[in-house]
Amino acid sequence: MNEIMLPVEIGAQEQTFYQDVVEGLSETPKRIPSKYFYDQKGSELFEQICDLEEYYLTRTELGMLDGVASDLANFLPKISRIVEFGSGNCEKVQYLLDRHSSIRRYLPIDVSESFLLFHADRLMQRYHGLDVLPVVGDFNVPISLEEEEGISLGFFPGSTIGNLDRWEAIRFLRNAADTLGTKSYFLVGVDTLKDRDILLAAYDDAKGVTRDFNLNLLRRLQQELGANLNIDQFEHEARFNQEQSRIEMHLKSRCDQTVRINGDTFRLIEGETIHTENSHKYSVESFQDLARLGGWESCRVWLADGEMFSIHLLKRID
Ligand code: SAH
Ligand code: TRP
Repeated sequence: MNEIMLPVEIGAQEQTFYQDVVEGLSETPKRIPSKYFYDQKGSELFEQICDLEEYYLTRTELGMLDGVASDLANFLPKISRIVEFGSGNCEKVQYLLDRHSSIRRYLPIDVSESFLLFHADRLMQRYHGLDVLPVVGDFNVPISLEEEEGISLGFFPGSTIGNLDRWEAIRFLRNAADTLGTKSYFLVGVDTLKDRDILLAAYDDAKGVTRDFNLNLLRRLQQELGANLNIDQFEHEARFNQEQSRIEMHLKSRCDQTVRINGDTFRLIEGETIHTENSHKYSVESFQDLARLGGWESCRVWLADGEMFSIHLLKRID
């Protein structure tokens, strides 16, 4: 199974990067969509975040996945296809592949092209007979899949769903229901609300890896869009927004300054921020309510010790 992989592409990426940045910086407050964190360098920095002491999410979810995969083997014995939304390094899906020999096909969807292709290829070497079909692009865009016998399982770990606003999450869930088809299930990793100091530390670590990850976005603006800006004039900021039950990440201007991109100029005053990410935290019930609005009913929930993280199994509502 070592053929050359031809990734499926959704959307023309360079153009929209420029348009989305200009649009976001023209708004008040300024913002840039978080999917642009992830180029090769951004994906590598994200992997380092996952290993940080303060970043409890990855190790907590990894600690749950083998148990979840074996419970699922009793519950859903005939999974034939997995579609992962934002697959990153494809590490987590391996817990499912190891316990479900019925899985024939894996479709990892990710915007980070070189990182996706490298890890998709590695997975194909590791699991002979598994058909790996990488899809490069935005997972918010619905894709049409071939009909297939057996169960299609959507996989969305890492609390990436928390990075979408509520209405974006509902729209995403509805699109995913269309993509995955009838008789599909969805396994979603969701971070829970907890002590604000634990949350803040996870997004503002002592080594400054999360800072570098946030600032990497500015480097992309310089290198890919020719933006005229000085990275040192920005700092990383993590905030807890209690009303919205979310952590927010911002790039905060250290001084009054002007950023130029092509013919456009964007002024920032000292202390003004560019909002780069949200990470919503959900109780079990609040996530189940959201899922229902997105066309999915709850089948089962696994909770980590101390309710530090949750994994939800959802079934498509016909
Ligand atoms: N599933 C992995 C990675 C989570 S990080 C894990 O749980 O460890 C989020 C991943 O989603 C990154 O790999 C990033 O490149 C990708 N991503 C973020 N926004 C995206 C979008 N809108 N469309 C497609 N991929 C996206
Ligand atoms: N899904 C991850 C989360 O919300 C993404 C993430 C982790 C992240 N650390 C980050 C996004 C730092 C931006 C900045 O936890």
